[in-house]
Amino acid sequence: MMAEETEIRTYEPPEEFARQANVDDASVYDEAEKDYEGFWEKRAKELHWFKEWDQVLNWDPPEAEWFVGGKLNVAYNCLDYQVEQGRGDKTAILWESDEPGEGKAYTYSELTAEVKKFANVLKGLGVGKGDPVAIYMPMIPELPIAMLACARIGAPHSVVFGAFSGDSLRDRINDCEAKVLVTADGGPRGGKTAYHKKNADEALKDTPSIDSVVVAKRVGEDVPMTEGRDHWWEDLAAEAEDECPAEEMDSEDILFILYSSGSTGKPKGIVHTTGGYLTQVKATTRWVLDVKDDDVYWCQADIGWVTGHSYLVYGPLSNGATTVQFEGTPSYPGPDRHWDLIERHGVTIYYSAPTVIRAFMKQGTEPLEGHDLSSLRLLGTVGEPINPRAWEWFHNNVGKGNCPVVDTWWQTETGAIMIAPLPGLTKTKPGSATRPFPGISVDIYDEEDNPIEGAGKGNLVITRPWPSMLRTIYKDPERYRKTYWERLGDKYFVEDGAERDEDGYYTITGRIDDVMNVSGHRIGTMEVESALVGHESVAEAAVIGRNDEDKGQAIVAYVILEGDREGDEELIKELNNQVRKSIGPHARPEEIIFTPDLPKTRSGKIMRRVLRGVAEGQEDLGDTSTLADPSVVDDLKAARQ
Ligand code: WT7
Repeated sequence: MMAEETEIRTYEPPEEFARQANVDDASVYDEAEKDYEGFWEKRAKELHWFKEWDQVLNWDPPEAEWFVGGKLNVAYNCLDYQVEQGRGDKTAILWESDEPGEGKAYTYSELTAEVKKFANVLKGLGVGKGDPVAIYMPMIPELPIAMLACARIGAPHSVVFGAFSGDSLRDRINDCEAKVLVTADGGPRGGKTAYHKKNADEALKDTPSIDSVVVAKRVGEDVPMTEGRDHWWEDLAAEAEDECPAEEMDSEDILFILYSSGSTGKPKGIVHTTGGYLTQVKATTRWVLDVKDDDVYWCQADIGWVTGHSYLVYGPLSNGATTVQFEGTPSYPGPDRHWDLIERHGVTIYYSAPTVIRAFMKQGTEPLEGHDLSSLRLLGTVGEPINPRAWEWFHNNVGKGNCPVVDTWWQTETGAIMIAPLPGLTKTKPGSATRPFPGISVDIYDEEDNPIEGAGKGNLVITRPWPSMLRTIYKDPERYRKTYWERLGDKYFVEDGAERDEDGYYTITGRIDDVMNVSGHRIGTMEVESALVGHESVAEAAVIGRNDEDKGQAIVAYVILEGDREGDEELIKELNNQVRKSIGPHARPEEIIFTPDLPKTRSGKIMRRVLRGVAEGQEDLGDTSTLADPSVVDDLKAARQ
């Protein structure tokens, strides 16, 4: 991706910005380097604790405990503590609906009241400390309310992205054995309506752990309600008590489980705990996104992904900020929707994603014209590598050259930002996430797992534990150890490639495992493959992500048929539906190629490199001599014609 630009430009923090930045002293890097535990301890002290810790870090690789013995509650930090500090009447969540100008605002006091009530609803349904609750909702305020209610009573939430299919929801519910599912009748998005309860009912056919379902009303159409199991949110909330004390949670109690794709078919239940997670999320929100009391901060991610958890809900609320929650899409009702929203609400910080920026770039600057974006002072991006051209476009046209751009690298597993500029201090280079956050230590290793000195290219490694690191894979500690720690012992193997330049700046080049990144959505090749082989006419399938100008990667599926079905348009439709049903519409292949054979090594391993090369139309496919049958390559090329 870096190849498109030869001249590397750099950008100093704009003076005006630097003067007001939350962090303006570069000695923080040295200070954190000298004593990283001490650095994080100071950040932890910025939270509200019922009881302080006895020990900052207990590191017994691959098991980490942070702020051992400390007691706190995340919802208390995001709500009561903010009210105590005089923010009761300040807007906490500014919700904008799919229709421009429609929406709702909740002050910190109002949000606290709603959360307490819903916490009592959950208690009334038998949810106690430690009982996972599944949440499957559109982007409505009830979603963060449900999460905060879980946090308040110490029930880990497991939010499932609202576009996932019923089958995906079922698997995630069954993995964490949730007793309660919180959902909604549906929700409008981009002028269309999605029906969450209908999908949930599909899942609920086979989720023995679920006793109760709470349904928030958004669409208002009739939905089937199962007697004794399904309840309307508003009915239960109307009867619930107003007061609900925040549970004193141990620093290492689970805050949430969030399923994420890995290189096998089964998604991983990434576990995040309480004290360390909130410490790093709160600090990075202040330091990298520069959130302050008077900001109108907008993270445009869906709460169903980790970005929404950390930087739409917990980061901004624990800092007492006003966080914008937007239900719709960037293109409805017109291509200027985001600019319209920024102008109307006076958004000051806009945290977006490369795929969205590239889509804007394609439309040219016309949708921006006529909108006053002068309220903006900082821009952010996350989710995939940003190509320098998109970075520059964002900087020049949205930020008008005055707003620092923070490219933030992190993962579901890291819980919070790991590599990113400190916008008042760090000189930025388009395409580079720049330097690790203070107190975070990363390196680049070669294929033999030796650290590379100075500038170079290799595998990204995190060399010390960090507060918001995942603690395990839910109920599967062995998979946790194997996936992230087996290779390097006490160092975290990221599964991303990276390049480091002479200034020590990092540019992330993308995944090195079998995980695709499609429009910032993480999808495992094996998940799509197992969806495809679920179709009766498919004998075998191999899926790869090919480079795509808009989406970052596009899904290409190579399919071997069995039986007497022809690989025609009709079958392509059926296969697309198959993927939609078993994962969700975001995982549908861009291209399906029927082939008589797949390129395999003599040991039977599919050479994805070759498949990628064919899909990208590369002339030179590299060394194919290790293929069991090198003639397969010609068949593949012919099949793609
Ligand atoms: C993968 C993690 C972090 C929240 C959203 C995605 C890629 C993420 C960047 C970035 C280059 C990035 C990596 C990473 N990624 N941010 N700024 N530059 N690549 O979370 O679904 O867990 O995906 O997204 O490949 O490993 P996720």
